[in-house]
Amino acid sequence: RGTEGLRRDLVGRRVVVSAGGTREFLDPVRFLGNRSSGRQGYALARAAALRGARVTLVAANTTLPDPAGVAVTRVVSTREMRDAVLAEAQDADAVVMAAAPADFRPADYSEHKIKKSGQDTARIVELVENPDILAELSKNRPRPDLVVVGFAAETGDAHAGVLDHGRAKLAAKGCDLLVVNEVGPDKGFESPENEAVILGADGSETVVPRASKDILAHRVWDLVVRTWSTTG
Ligand code: CTP
Ligand code: CA
Repeated sequence: RGTEGLRRDLVGRRVVVSAGGTREFLDPVRFLGNRSSGRQGYALARAAALRGARVTLVAANTTLPDPAGVAVTRVVSTREMRDAVLAEAQDADAVVMAAAPADFRPADYSEHKIKKSGQDTARIVELVENPDILAELSKNRPRPDLVVVGFAAETGDAHAGVLDHGRAKLAAKGCDLLVVNEVGPDKGFESPENEAVILGADGSETVVPRASKDILAHRVWDLVVRTWSTTG
């Protein structure tokens, strides 16, 4: 089933989706950020609304048009995203973290634009780690039947494959489902298409062959619905 023959199987459900990339400012004009466009999160929000859910989209620094029938909350930094997602999660049935939160932020923020020194000595930016929203929410659920979904862009390395990294991350985060994308040329960031394997905490593996972000979004909601039916 693609986007056609849609079931209204999310009627009565409230879901939260995060999208985009957070930014951590060093001074009024400079930030640390990433290349996330927010398209996968917007596709998830749109798909959930089409299936009848009440949807809140927590969007970080995206330039996409608001999806029809979706409440959009805008945030900039990872800490702002954390506060918004945790607040919205209180009465939600599912939270999908499709955003790319910045993992680190500068230890200090300069109220004034940082000036060049004219010297060629190295400048050091001290970074501190941001809160992990997905892990915090998974381990501290406002309701036991809340379904929590994460995304992970992984590469294989000499020691382990993409799915091994994904399994380890699923366990470390404590979420119910983890959508694992292999990253490489033409995959993932800024690409209109996404191929993925959706790992379940129950050991399941759902392969979603190269398809649109809308199709992947519907597969994610299919699995969220299945998780609700097995956990309560
Ligand atoms: N995530 C989050 N809060 C963070 C960082 C990540 O909620 N501070 C979420 C992302 O939205 C995603 C999942 O965690 O759903 C995995 O993100 P990823 O960057 O792959 O995981 P990290 O734990 O940050 O690990 P890595 O060191 O590989 O970046
Ligand atoms: Ca990260």
